[in-house]
Amino acid sequence: MILGVNVDHVATVREARKDVEPDPVKAAYLALKGGADGITVHLREDRRHINDRDLRAVRRNISKEVNLEMAATDEMIDIALKVRPDMVTLVPEKRAELTTEGGLDLKKNRRKIKKAIEAITGKGIPVSLFINPSVSDVEISGELGAPMVEIHTGLYSNARGKKQTEELRRVRLAVKKGLALGLAVNAGHGLNYANVKRIAAIKGLRGLYIGHSIVARAVYDGMQKAVREMKRLIREGARASR
Ligand code: PXP
Repeated sequence: MILGVNVDHVATVREARKDVEPDPVKAAYLALKGGADGITVHLREDRRHINDRDLRAVRRNISKEVNLEMAATDEMIDIALKVRPDMVTLVPEKRAELTTEGGLDLKKNRRKIKKAIEAITGKGIPVSLFINPSVSDVEISGELGAPMVEIHTGLYSNARGKKQTEELRRVRLAVKKGLALGLAVNAGHGLNYANVKRIAAIKGLRGLYIGHSIVARAVYDGMQKAVREMKRLIREGARASR
């Protein structure tokens, strides 16, 4: 099972200062050193974290799978065809949302999504649809010609106790349906160090796509080292002025 690491929130920290650090491409490189099998970036319409330059730099510098998450708009389709990621994941996008809140509304956007799938897969780039854990959405994805789906695990991740077990069951059924239809099936959203194992145990899943919890853990794990290095430089500076 592959792990695609989403580095959007490294860029979120950079954008808090409109500076050059932290650089999501450098973080992506370190993620690969840690064993990531691919890198995901979400180019949002408002460019609130990843920008076009980041996307091009990720494409140039990352030798493993580059997964571009994007809305099914003409602007994004043009970008995808120019940059040529290894795969595209179509996601719904609302300006006001903090993160992708749900899967695609396939019934409402059938034509738009089909057109995007055809335009992108027609140029040899596989398309995955980010969908809710619903058997009927998996069926529609197959009908639309998507070779791959990603099952939204957000409800599973937010639920607790019995409710979480029920949400896990919905994810499992959706995965099973996808596999029966011959689709490649991934899962992601909200997965963290406490809840990932039950999803990883689902047979046949191709991969997991995880971002926020890994970036959060990286901050904790790096903090001691970062402070120690700053203290060392302060000591050296102070000593030199004596
Ligand atoms: N998969 C998709 C399609 C997403 O939109 C996101 C969030 O950008 C993720 C996975 C990763 O979610 P999280 O940051 O909660 O791990």
